[in-house]
Amino acid sequence: MSGKKLLEVKDLYTYYQTRLGEKIKAVNGVSFELKEGEILGIAGESGCGKSTLGISISGLFPPPLKYGKGSVKLGDVELTNINHSKLRKEILGKKISFIPQSAMNALNPTLKVKRFIVDLVKEHEPNLSEDEIIKRAAERFESLSLPKRVLDAYALELSGGMKQRTIVVISTMMNPEVVIADEPTSALDVSSQKIVIKLIRQLFEEKIIKSVIFITHDLPILRHIATKIAVMYAGEFVEVGTMEQVIFDPVHPYSNALMNSIIVPEKGIKGKKLPSIPGAPPDPRLEIQGCRFADRCPLADDECRKAPIEMREAKGRLVRCIKV
Ligand SMILES: Nc1ncnc2c1ncn2[C@@H]1O[C@H](COP(=O)(O)OP(=O)(O)OP(=O)(O)O)[C@@H](O)[C@H]1O
Ligand SMILES: [Mg+2]
Repeated sequence: MSGKKLLEVKDLYTYYQTRLGEKIKAVNGVSFELKEGEILGIAGESGCGKSTLGISISGLFPPPLKYGKGSVKLGDVELTNINHSKLRKEILGKKISFIPQSAMNALNPTLKVKRFIVDLVKEHEPNLSEDEIIKRAAERFESLSLPKRVLDAYALELSGGMKQRTIVVISTMMNPEVVIADEPTSALDVSSQKIVIKLIRQLFEEKIIKSVIFITHDLPILRHIATKIAVMYAGEFVEVGTMEQVIFDPVHPYSNALMNSIIVPEKGIKGKKLPSIPGAPPDPRLEIQGCRFADRCPLADDECRKAPIEMREAKGRLVRCIKV
């Protein structure tokens, strides 16, 4: 199933510029491609740069986030230096859609959900009538087990789970080619999580959305949704492979540790214990010489700390490690 290339990220660096003049290097040389038909899961510990990568890919650089170098190409369009009004008018929501981790804050509390959806869609698709927009929203609400009355509610009247599901509907209303979902399920109870995953899968299978980037720290969830997985550590991808490769046969010592720290192991997945990974990621303000995981890695030696470690092929996938 290898479809058309939709997105190409090449050696992307982005950082936060603090008021003290420091640079928090959040994304450090990330490269990957996303094709039609792919669901890329991005997993890694808190603070490893997943959300920052997601925002950066959508071409938005809200202060204090800044673009460093590298490229993000959506089809033929370079998103890192695109004109802001063009990005908002022609790309966001329509071609690429970002479902934020803090979805709760994305809804305007003073507008009815219906009004918010109609205004947003009309901005991009002026030819759609208000009735058509509401009909489409109502259908999607139904698939997500959201009562239709939510359309007539104000955002502040919704529960957390309802807000999150509403955001999923809104983010996919214009059938974008690439949907970036940042921890869309983490605030939800297990049954709501399943409903959200089901909707994303369904929109995907019906080819309403063509590809998904699904960000989470919860690896087992990726087993149910991802076709490919990238494991992220300290702003870098350390392993990129198929879902089966990364979940069932991780190669990078960090992927391994992450798999072993699964809290409730599922049948067939490695990792029966609960050892959290000792140590902490490196300070993102510092320049790091060699492997960023070396200080926590059971395999590391002096060689690992000498020079930057490049991605290389091992066991049929990409791995950033010289010891495996
Ligand atoms: N507004 C900000 N200003 C300064 N630094 C920030 C800001 N937002 C994030 N960071 C830093 O950037 C790095 C990456 O953060 P990011 O939120 O992308 O991680 P994450 O992988 O999404 O974590 P989580 O799993 O907790 O959501 C962290 O070191 C974080 O402290
Ligand atoms: Mg995050």
